[in-house]
Amino acid sequence: MEIKSAAFLISSAKLSQCPEPDRPEYAFIGRSNVGKSSLINMLTGRNSLAKVSGSPGKTTLINHFLINPDEKSGDKGWYLVDLPGYGFAKRSKSQREQWQKMIAEYLQQRANLQVIFVLIDSRISPQKIDLDFINQLGEWGVPFNIVFTKTDKNKQSETAKNVKDFIKSLSAFWEIIPEYFITSSVKKSGRDKLLSYVEGLNFRFWGE
Ligand code: GTP
Ligand code: MG
Repeated sequence: MEIKSAAFLISSAKLSQCPEPDRPEYAFIGRSNVGKSSLINMLTGRNSLAKVSGSPGKTTLINHFLINPDEKSGDKGWYLVDLPGYGFAKRSKSQREQWQKMIAEYLQQRANLQVIFVLIDSRISPQKIDLDFINQLGEWGVPFNIVFTKTDKNKQSETAKNVKDFIKSLSAFWEIIPEYFITSSVKKSGRDKLLSYVEGLNFRFWGE
């Protein structure tokens, strides 16, 4: 899929403030600093659409971006959503509870959400915090896919091992392993596959 336009739309503190659920939506989440904003910029081909930060924990709201609307053809396009990550040590207990409430409400009730992409740092072995989050998604019945990030930082063999180990850890809990994508925002790899996947789900959403 070609990205013809990508624009920031709105930041929401809760579900009721989110835009009308009238087009397919894809949310991105992961541990703080995993490379979410960088991935969003890489996918959309816009360098500063989402803010990339050296200091983790910048995103605290549900951020909607509108991709590829086309007035001429009547195509409504789709929503890309940047969610605040988990595992940010400097959050207070009440901030963490607020995060949990917002994320639980959004993920369980957002009617047009097609899948959530969970970002996993490909440089490290499977982490409990990621597996716990994914298992929570299972309890909520939220469909998810995995996106491995920062693959340019490791040797290919190490990435392959970490990916394999992560998928193996998932198999302990899941019978069906979801689709996963291997990406690097620096090398712009994994972009075509992920966008084609989104395009396929968009077709399905509109019943084409
Ligand atoms: P928060 O919103 O703060 O939770 O972080 P985030 O998940 O949005 O991560 P962000 O995209 O801001 O990236 C965090 C750091 O990792 C930045 O210094 C990025 O430049 C770096 N980074 C992100 N993706 C990649 C990648 O694919 N390769 C390399 N080498 N660095 C990356
Ligand atoms: Mg970010």
